[in-house]
Amino acid sequence: MMSQFADSIRNVRDYVRLPLLYDHWYVAGLCEEFDRTPKARTLLERSIVFYRTLDGRLVAAQNRCLHRSFPLAEGYLEGDELVCHYHGIRYDPEGTIVRIPSQKRCPDRKLRTYPIVEQGPFVFIWMGDQDEPDFSRLPDLPFLSDSGFRTFHNSHHLDGSYLLMQENLNDLTHFSYLHRDSFGFDDSFLELPTTVEETPEGASCYRVDNNPARATGALPPDIQERIAGRPAERWDGGLAISPGVFKGYAPIKVGDPEAEDREIFSQYIMHYVTPESSTTTHYWWSISNDFGVDNDAYYEFMALTIKHGFDEDAWAVDHMQKVLDNDNFDYQELVIGGDKAGLLFRRIVLGWVEAEYGRTQATATQD
Ligand code: FES
Ligand SMILES: [Fe+2]
Repeated sequence: MMSQFADSIRNVRDYVRLPLLYDHWYVAGLCEEFDRTPKARTLLERSIVFYRTLDGRLVAAQNRCLHRSFPLAEGYLEGDELVCHYHGIRYDPEGTIVRIPSQKRCPDRKLRTYPIVEQGPFVFIWMGDQDEPDFSRLPDLPFLSDSGFRTFHNSHHLDGSYLLMQENLNDLTHFSYLHRDSFGFDDSFLELPTTVEETPEGASCYRVDNNPARATGALPPDIQERIAGRPAERWDGGLAISPGVFKGYAPIKVGDPEAEDREIFSQYIMHYVTPESSTTTHYWWSISNDFGVDNDAYYEFMALTIKHGFDEDAWAVDHMQKVLDNDNFDYQELVIGGDKAGLLFRRIVLGWVEAEYGRTQATATQD
């Protein structure tokens, strides 16, 4: 059954037209973006208003007044009550109507509210419709709030599907070409064997690079100097752990591979892709390192270098979406070895679609 459905995905155009997946946690924004001024953001084709209560709790609710769909983000807070700017209906943080100025009776109606969890600099939101969020699906990212790590982050708005970006993240073979102006590896990097496997956490792909110059090239200069001449390897890999979260990791292991006391420099390279619509995406990334944490100059340099590289991924996604929007030619796409992780992730995505929509409705939109 599933393979039949999978077979109907002939190319990435079919793939990105799959229905959006609501029963998951997504990043809604940065914690620092939300305060006592109501703010609107569209996530998965739903307009949501965010604000903080007097004690700092973040509230997320539908951004449409139950009365005439006026956007509640254009309203204001009185205490912890959100007041609609049109006719003054008031809602408490649970979304309950607590006052209608023009009448005595308040109907028993509530705004749709969304569960929120803040982790490190990020706000995660549960978009599912069932009453209770599935906390087993919440990405567990302890390094984001671990003082032993230094985290830096940035964001983009993509004019392309989040699935295009997920496929890009699952693909280790574009580094030498799409990123020739930034990360700039040569083809010998692409020839390293890649391991692709399904793990309990998600679709995983990684490769191990034992070219010492490449393996240690991203470390701060003082550390590079200290470890010069020692064997080194860098694991480059990642796991698509949910529709909206890709957990990259790139530990650098220095010392004799047989020795038990190898020095390990840990880095987590996280990508958070949250559909705004089927064809546009909010994209945040973060990098958390446990080395050189006091080296401000190094982190300023890395923030710029990484942004340059990830801007190239965004550029590619935007361009692919434009073609998919404007070109209806239908053909069976070529599959190459480097697509293995992306295809594995496609199968997992199809499983999520199946679980959420059932097989009968889970069809890619046809022209
Ligand atoms: S539209 Fe909000 S109170 Fe009328
Ligand atoms: Fe990339």
